[in-house]
Amino acid sequence: MPDPIALVPLPRSVIWSEGTWDTAEPWEGLTVGLSDELPLAEYTLSISPRGAALTAGSEAALADGRNTFAQIVTGAGSAIPCVTISDRPAFAWRGLHLDVARHFLPLEDIESFIDAMALHRLNVLHLHLTDDQGWRVEIKGYPRLTEVGAWREQTLIGPMRGEEEGWEFDGVRHGGSYTQQELRDLVEYARTRGVMIVPEIDLPGHMQAAIASYPQLGTVPERQLGVREVWGISDHVLGLNDEVFMFLRDVLGQVCDIFPAPYVHIGGDEVPLTEWEQSTQARNRVNEWGLTRISELRGYVTRFAAEVLAEHGRRAIAWDEVLETHPPDDVVVMNWREDAGVEEATSRGFRTIVSTSDHLYLDHYQATGADEPLAIGGLTTLEDVYTAELLPADLDESQRSLILGVQAQLWTEYMPTAAAAQYMAFPRLCAVAERAWGSPTQSFEEFRERLAGHLPRLDAFGLRYRPLD
Ligand code: ACM
Repeated sequence: MPDPIALVPLPRSVIWSEGTWDTAEPWEGLTVGLSDELPLAEYTLSISPRGAALTAGSEAALADGRNTFAQIVTGAGSAIPCVTISDRPAFAWRGLHLDVARHFLPLEDIESFIDAMALHRLNVLHLHLTDDQGWRVEIKGYPRLTEVGAWREQTLIGPMRGEEEGWEFDGVRHGGSYTQQELRDLVEYARTRGVMIVPEIDLPGHMQAAIASYPQLGTVPERQLGVREVWGISDHVLGLNDEVFMFLRDVLGQVCDIFPAPYVHIGGDEVPLTEWEQSTQARNRVNEWGLTRISELRGYVTRFAAEVLAEHGRRAIAWDEVLETHPPDDVVVMNWREDAGVEEATSRGFRTIVSTSDHLYLDHYQATGADEPLAIGGLTTLEDVYTAELLPADLDESQRSLILGVQAQLWTEYMPTAAAAQYMAFPRLCAVAERAWGSPTQSFEEFRERLAGHLPRLDAFGLRYRPLD
């Protein structure tokens, strides 16, 4: 029978029963309870003409069940079919990475992403809080990070191609930051919707905004940089003096105080070695720390950051470049560059989150055609996302057990507003959600049909999306 309420993601077990809940009639409401008899990740939701009951094996599963109930109710009209759903996710980590560094997003826009995540049973919001183009989190004792580092004078708005003289800028000052209290409130907002926020402080590269705020954090302390106004990879990386390590200790400590999640992301991607190669101090550090190559300094900084996090009882996550640097055994690897990274990370015993740029980067174009908004590049259609082979076929059982989950990335270089970011996210994020939850069917045609019935919910949430072809 066609799905009368078009759920996305599709639950594993759906049993329709007689009757409908007429929302105009008096109703007993939703009763909720935990049950020892259910597996931790599982919930059962039953809707009858008189009321609904939700039982779950854990608080997390309860949140999933509530979110399914909310999805059924949203946009379903006044007569809701009676149904019993038993369900559990395929992956524990069902994430969205949101880059609020390239473009600052007001808190209410992040909240609306959190609402949309809950609607799709996505449960981890990875907040990319710092980058070359902006520092977004208040750090006590370092006021210039948000006074200076959170603002850039203008922004590249055209493609970053050809002669630099021809690049197009908007000439508009852009920026913003979040206080620690605002972020604590956001954590709570997300928690009550079943979403955990994992913060990222990207280091030791992608740090130009911090170095513009405090030049002594760079490799050339007497040089005053500005916050970066173009995209791509900045050569300006953290220096290696003692003050830098004190800074990292302070920042990571405060971040742990704000965000209770057991994980903190420490970046580690795209670290150019040019400045360290030219720095006497960096060369001296290689000798002092018993290393043999400049490139090993990346691993030293990563291990330092992971140790600070461990002192706070947290575990580090890093982008897959970390595999090149003798990482700590318990680092969680986020694979963005290629599928082979999943195989490598898991064969070396690292826990892994699949976040491949081929299938899960929502900053890529979602269609060809002149009317699509300018994007960073690539082409990843809705069908590409839905039908992607997310895991290499030849993983053995022990490797599979190391896959924490799946995550979509929304880098916002060319998304200056929430509406622009939503347009790139949806409906592809619906497809990611279904894959991360684990759909019993792999048919894009069936998904597309259900998605057509689901899009009114995005309308009801006030979200912008690319219409279906
Ligand atoms: C990345 O896209 N630089 C993780």
